Amino acid sequence: MTTNSDEKRRSDEVQRSFSGSTKFTTPATRGIPHLCFWIAVILSQVVGLVCIGLVVRWCQMFGGFAWDSDANKQFYYHPLLMILGLVFFYGDAMIVYRVLSFLPKFILKIIHGCLHLAAIVSSSVALVAVLENHRRTKKADFYSLHSWIGITTFAFFCLQYLGSFITFMLPWMPTVWRARIMPFHTFFGVGLFIMAVATAEMGITEKLVWTDNYSSGIPEGQMGNSLGLCLVVFAFLIVFITTHSAYKRQPLPEELPPQPLN
Ligand code: HEM
Repeated sequence: MTTNSDEKRRSDEVQRSFSGSTKFTTPATRGIPHLCFWIAVILSQVVGLVCIGLVVRWCQMFGGFAWDSDANKQFYYHPLLMILGLVFFYGDAMIVYRVLSFLPKFILKIIHGCLHLAAIVSSSVALVAVLENHRRTKKADFYSLHSWIGITTFAFFCLQYLGSFITFMLPWMPTVWRARIMPFHTFFGVGLFIMAVATAEMGITEKLVWTDNYSSGIPEGQMGNSLGLCLVVFAFLIVFITTHSAYKRQPLPEELPPQPLN
């Protein structure tokens, strides 16, 4: 149970940090942990952008993009928009509370929600692209492990979004219940992100295994492998930033409960 003296200590810590040169704080605002945090954040964004660059180049060089005019080219929107939505936007949505911890919680909620919404829109179009490609080229649906794990991840991602919107955005949920649900929200959020990255890896492998001469080290294969490696590095960095307890956002002074006068 939190006592008044605990709350006072927490409030004092936050107040102290405001009197320093920085305008905001997390418990790791100084020293090596602080440096590691910002190195991980910068690296994650660089690697994330490399992933987007690689998938765009990979699709352009070995397929191309078109919607109505060419069913085969329509397929390439699938890897691009899945990686953009369920990996990049989703990953960034997860770290936003820690990276922009100086912003008020309500603004952070809006950014977190918008990035997730962008992930849903992007992955929905990606799903339509592959379903349409299968319909037009008369291929079977949902036979591979990639498609089973993929559709499960997508469905649970949408459910998690809906549940979280009801719990954390609508005003009716008591704060104590929000606090109880939060560990499950974080656990399933990280779990689904790992599932999304694993699905993307399976999709890349499946596409490459169908490609002639993959085993002879063709450029398409090497580029796909590099993309897969970068996705793993991105996932590690995002999970590190999201789960390391020292990087957890602390409430701003105005977000703390009022102090009793004594
Ligand atoms: C988070 C990322 C991804 C998710 C959630 C996902 C989901 C799906 C789903 C649900 C299908 C089934 C469509 C159907 O059967 O009609 C599918 C098909 C496919 N996806 Fe992905 N995908 C992802 C990323 C990728 C990536 C990066 C590639 C790389 C090229 C890829 C390649 C394929 C291929 C080749 C198919 C058609 C064959 C099959 O059904 O397995 N996917 N994907």
